[in-house]
Amino acid sequence: MLRRLHPDQPASFAFTPANQAWAEAQITKYPEGRQASAIIPLLWRAQEQEGWLTRPAIEHVADMLGLAHIRALEVATFYFMFQLQPVGSVAHLQICGTTSCMICGAEDLVAVCKEKIAQKAHQLSADGKFSWEEVECLGACANAPMAQIGKDYYEDLTAEKLAWIIDEMAAGRVPTPGPQNGRYASEPKGGLTSLKDHEAGRDPLNISARRATDIGDTIKRIDGTEVPMLAPWGKQSGADVAVAERPVKDPRPAKGRPADATGVTEQAAPAKAKARPAPSAASSSATEAAPAAEAEPARLTGPRAGQAADDLKKISGVGPKLEALLNEMGFWHYDQIAAWTPAEVAWVDARLKFKGRIERDGWIAQAAALAAAR
Ligand code: FES
Repeated sequence: MLRRLHPDQPASFAFTPANQAWAEAQITKYPEGRQASAIIPLLWRAQEQEGWLTRPAIEHVADMLGLAHIRALEVATFYFMFQLQPVGSVAHLQICGTTSCMICGAEDLVAVCKEKIAQKAHQLSADGKFSWEEVECLGACANAPMAQIGKDYYEDLTAEKLAWIIDEMAAGRVPTPGPQNGRYASEPKGGLTSLKDHEAGRDPLNISARRATDIGDTIKRIDGTEVPMLAPWGKQSGADVAVAERPVKDPRPAKGRPADATGVTEQAAPAKAKARPAPSAASSSATEAAPAAEAEPARLTGPRAGQAADDLKKISGVGPKLEALLNEMGFWHYDQIAAWTPAEVAWVDARLKFKGRIERDGWIAQAAALAAAR
């Protein structure tokens, strides 16, 4: 399959401050000159934060590691686990279509995705909340058919159960991961035939489902505030040290040294975190409310008299194409966007190419800040 970058890209990317600190800590795991080895965890974190890998994110990671952009692009486009196109704002479903799951009903699960989400894999649902794809064996064959949704596995699925899970997530709830047919783990469907002593008094959830439930980040976008944040190899404890207090360490290779044995030289771009408005509370939560009814916002036929149009591209996530689309829709000024109510956001969202983007990128908060600073 040809893997290309999506034609529509946001203007910029920045890790959240906490994710930036996490990424810098990852780089310290590797000896001098081997910092490039951190590329996969950093790209993965960028994807966990945004849902997919944008070109600015790939280039940001390359800059942090002192790599030529093409080296990071090679990695991002090689591995199928990296999503190169926008995914659902609530969840991206990965349906296992390999042998065991196929025999046990994976095709029925795919049919549910086609009916409830989109006819084709990697397309967004009409409301922008979901996307799906078929993937190879995810290693839970004894609980076939199964799907990975966000971080966790939903196993022993039926078409009805998967449809219910999607409906629950659309309504802001996250069903408990793990077996969905009453099985504890991967014991025989008829129940245990040995080791029965361990059944009495055990947690009703197996250890994986319990852990997933306790952490509660199954479909949450990872902003870095989850604890524990920094790994034990670091001297600091992420849980104990406020991000703002952490000493800033330039994670790039020493000047003049290649990042790895390939001899790719360092980039001139400094590895500084770019300012990024905090995402709206709703965008980072899997428990967002059900969609508001649509209401048409006040629109203008052009910039207000005596005023130039605001540069909407200053809103992170708005590029030239989206700006043109917003102008076409009648939005020329930051304060127009800052004033959108949830129902008005729903109206605009329904008419955007990338649904869910307003909430995901925190347009309202960004526009309000830009309007206030003008
Ligand atoms: S075949 Fe589906 S998890 Fe292995």
